Amino acid sequence: MLFWSTRQRICRLSKRCSTVNDQQERKIILVVGGAGYIGSLTTHYLASSNYQPIVLDNFSKGHREFLDGFEVVEADVTDPSSVNEVFTRYKIDAVVHFAALTEVGNSMRHPVEYYRTNVGGTINLLQAMENARVRKLVFSSSAAVYGNPVTVPISEKHALAPINPYGRTKLMMEQIIADAEQAWGLSWVALRYFNAAGADPLAPCGEWHDPETHLIPNLLLAAAGKKDNLQLFGTDHPTDDGTAVRDYVHVADLARAHIIALRHMDANAGGRIFNLGIGRGFSVREVIRSAKEVTGSEFGIVEADIRKGDPAVLLADPSAAMEELGWRPEYTDIDEIVRSAWDWYMKNGFEPPSP
Ligand SMILES: NC(=O)c1ccc[n+]([C@@H]2O[C@H](COP(=O)([O-])OP(=O)(O)OC[C@H]3O[C@@H](n4cnc5c(N)ncnc54)[C@H](O)[C@@H]3O)[C@@H](O)[C@H]2O)c1
Repeated sequence: MLFWSTRQRICRLSKRCSTVNDQQERKIILVVGGAGYIGSLTTHYLASSNYQPIVLDNFSKGHREFLDGFEVVEADVTDPSSVNEVFTRYKIDAVVHFAALTEVGNSMRHPVEYYRTNVGGTINLLQAMENARVRKLVFSSSAAVYGNPVTVPISEKHALAPINPYGRTKLMMEQIIADAEQAWGLSWVALRYFNAAGADPLAPCGEWHDPETHLIPNLLLAAAGKKDNLQLFGTDHPTDDGTAVRDYVHVADLARAHIIALRHMDANAGGRIFNLGIGRGFSVREVIRSAKEVTGSEFGIVEADIRKGDPAVLLADPSAAMEELGWRPEYTDIDEIVRSAWDWYMKNGFEPPSP
């Protein structure tokens, strides 16, 4: 069966699952939003790491094609009865929660929808966990909780001042989760990702958002002739080349961090928050250069004004995750990150995966 061989290859060839304990009973992990970009790869890694993932997703943004062979419950996290039902049907050990609306600009146009899905969905999930006495949660947070950074690199101690509804939902969710710890003993790890990027060369899933707002996929789609009039927002930032600097963290490194976080909770009660970035920034111009080099394609870019609320530099200090979780990003070279994404698009013919 193709699915199994893919999973085994992920584990064997990448050596990312070297701590797999084949003796242990397979714990059931509910992956909420597991059909999306980061959630789907984490689902594959969970299976390769001797967990039994069950995906809950409403497929508003996710893709079934990424989950061939996995157990999937089609449900909306904003519907409390469907969420409760999953916890009565399965003996869930822990939850990994990715489900959210994620576009910053859209969150400014439709804030209520964002609070309803992100905050409301998390409340439903926590209530169902409390009812079922499931007390372990890994939560997808975001660098958006920091807003415009006052100091870089950004450590977890940096002031929390989100500048858009999306970032505020992430901060509220962290606070609600922390309250659940105090009230009924939830153990949790919030992972504040910086800019997720790339694809695992051995996995069937990759980055396909609609609309796509992220830089690297848009550059690669432009390189493939699938997109034109690509805009570069902001050329007069106070950075070396005038363009915004971001910390690109590979999706494989993110997926692996979730496995580590689950294991961390087996030995540590309470809650912890970790930044996940590589601690190194690349400017938009550097990423454009990389995309042109990797793809061998010359595509046009239209320079545009700085977008309101776009910080000049977002750079993680990931030392807490490194020291406390023992997490180390394996991908630190921008060309390697871009190439991994390009290979995935090439393999998949630049066609949208099935919804
Ligand atoms: N991609 C990034 O760079 C990045 C950076 C920081 C944080 N994050 C966070 O990581 C998480 C995953 O991001 P992603 O890029 O994989 O996003 P994604 O859109 O690819 O995945 C989100 C998944 O959640 C599902 N979903 C949305 N609303 C739902 C609902 N009401 N009920 C059930 N399922 C629902 C979608 O169908 C999708 O499969 C999100 O919470 C996002 O905020 C992402």
